[in-house]
Order: sequence, then structure tokens, then C-alpha cells
Amino acid sequence: MPHAPYLPAQRFRSGAPGARPGPGRAVLRSLVVGGACWALASVALAANGPAAATLSAQAPDAAQLRHGQALARSCAACHGADGNASGPQFPKLAGQDAAYLERELERFRPARPGAPAARRSPVMNPIAQGLSEQDRRDLAAYFASCKLKPALAPQAADLPAGARIWRGGILGRRVPACAACHGADGHGIPPLYPSLAGQWSEYLVSQLRAFRDGTRNDQGPMHDIASRMTETQIREVADFASGLH
Ligand code: HEC
Ligand code: HEC
Repeated sequence: MPHAPYLPAQRFRSGAPGARPGPGRAVLRSLVVGGACWALASVALAANGPAAATLSAQAPDAAQLRHGQALARSCAACHGADGNASGPQFPKLAGQDAAYLERELERFRPARPGAPAARRSPVMNPIAQGLSEQDRRDLAAYFASCKLKPALAPQAADLPAGARIWRGGILGRRVPACAACHGADGHGIPPLYPSLAGQWSEYLVSQLRAFRDGTRNDQGPMHDIASRMTETQIREVADFASGLH
């Protein structure tokens, strides 16, 4: 699978070094020169016009994206510089909802000193611990602005067992349709329900097991849902979601 070359933060600098560009045209201009990540944001801005970008409270500004991109170098070995992780044990972050990514980075941290984190991972717990609130927000905005390269997975249409679970849930096991929350196309419903489309199947399987076993405590519906599924059903639906685009 082709991988976008890493583009140093230097390339994205526009205007005076360190200057925080104002909203509107300056943001648009600096976003347009972006690579696999900001290019996507610029498409959205171009479609709505600079005025819309200025009005949107949620649109990250260029300084935020630049900061996120610089920090993302320390994530690149596992998640890829553009959020397209090269191995199935590492989740793809590209194109995922920013609010979701920020929330997960918080969940990798202990709620109180000494307490276990809601989401336990020997790798991510210490990394998340070292990030400030601003770092988490800017990293989330940066990876959300990247373009997802879907996993090389069998076409979702060729997986009828997984498709049935996705669209209709599992009768008799009180498992609801995944599509109800994660969307018919798997792109999720921001900011509550994450996108699963094009994610590595192996990663999705590992998370369904983590919800079931409680090493990932979402304080939401996923523990019950995953607990009611067999290993085979978990694999079938994960393969299906991975093949959605
Ligand atoms: C050494 C490898 C490694 C590095 C470096 C790393 N991660 Fe991770 N990351 C992982 C693994 C493994 C997981 C899956 C953890 C789990 O099973 O819950 C993960 C999960 C995540 C998730 C959850 C994604 C989801 O879909 O729920 C986020 C967000 C994340 N990492 C962000 C980051 C950020 C930001 C950095 C850099 C500051 C970073 N990671 C650095 C290995 C890494
Ligand atoms: C009632 C709503 C709801 C339904 C139905 C639902 N989910 Fe979820 N799912 C969520 C929420 C909320 C999260 C985020 C959990 C968190 O923040 O830890 C989530 C997260 C996930 C994740 C973790 C994604 C990541 O990037 O780490 C996977 C995998 C997942 N769901 C799979 C499924 C599958 C498969 C089904 C169907 C069998 C399903 N979900 C049905 C609400 C739902």
C-alpha cells in the first residue's frame, strides 16, 4: 500500500514565523498547501467559502494544526505521520472524529492519580500521560484532518454474515445493529459514535475483546454488546466494518 511521504512541519509555515494567523483567508491559504492531511480541510473550506470557515467555531485554526502535526512525529512510528498506521495492531487515526480522538486520549489517562485508566494499554497509557490538554486537542485536530486510506480488506459486500450483524444485530442475543450507532456506511455519528469504516479488522477485534473483558471501560453500550457476541461473530463483523468505505 503506498504511503504518503512525511512532510516536515517547515513546509507548512506561512507568513511570519510564530505568527498566529487570523481566521479567514490566512487560514484558507495555509490549509491549501497542506499534504494528505490539511488538503482535506481545505476542500471543506473551499466548498463552504472562507466566510463559513470563519464562522465555524469548530474549525481548527492553522496554528493548532501545525502544532498537532509537529507533535504527531512522536506518534508516527506506530500510527503513521498521516494517521494511516502501517500495521494492523495500530489503529488508523486518519479522518476519525476529532472529539472522539481527544476523548480517547483522556481515557488513556487515570481519572485520579493512582487510579487505573478507563482504557488500559501498556503502550498508550504513558504516552497519553505526557500530553497536555492543548496537546491532546491539537493532535486530535491534526489526525482528524488527514485522509484515511482504507485497510486492504475484502469488499464488505462479500461478507454476508458480517453484513447481517452490522445491519440487523443478532437475534436472540440482544445485540443491536452496529449501523444504528456507527452508521450504515460505518462512518459513525460524531461526536459520540466513532467511525469504524476502513479500520484494521485485527484492531477492531482487539477492541471488542477489550470492551468485553473490561480493559476498555467505555461506560456505555459496548461492554454489553461485545459480551453477547461469540468470537466468530466478532471476527465476522470486524471484517465487514474493515471493508466499508
Ligand atoms: C509504540 C506505538 C505507539 C505510539 C508511539 C503511539 N501509539 Fe497510539 N496506540 C497504539 C496502540 C497499540 C493503540 C491501541 C491501544 C488499545 O488497544 O487500546 C493505540 C491507540 C491510540 C488511540 C485510540 C484510537 C481509537 O480508535 O480509539 C489514539 C487516539 C492514539 N493511540 C493516539 C496516539 C497519539 C496522539 C500518539 C502520539 C502522541 C500515539 N498514539 C503514539 C500505539 C502507539
Ligand atoms: C448504542 C450505540 C452503539 C451500538 C449499537 C454499537 N456501538 Fe460500537 N461504539 C459505541 C460508542 C459510544 C463507542 C465509543 C466507546 C468509547 O468511547 O470507548 C463505540 C466504539 C466501538 C469500537 C471501538 C472503535 C475504536 O476506534 O477503537 C468498536 C470496534 C465498536 N464500537 C464496534 C461495534 C460493533 C461491531 C457493533 C455492532 C455489533 C457496535 N459497535 C454497536 C456505540 C455503539
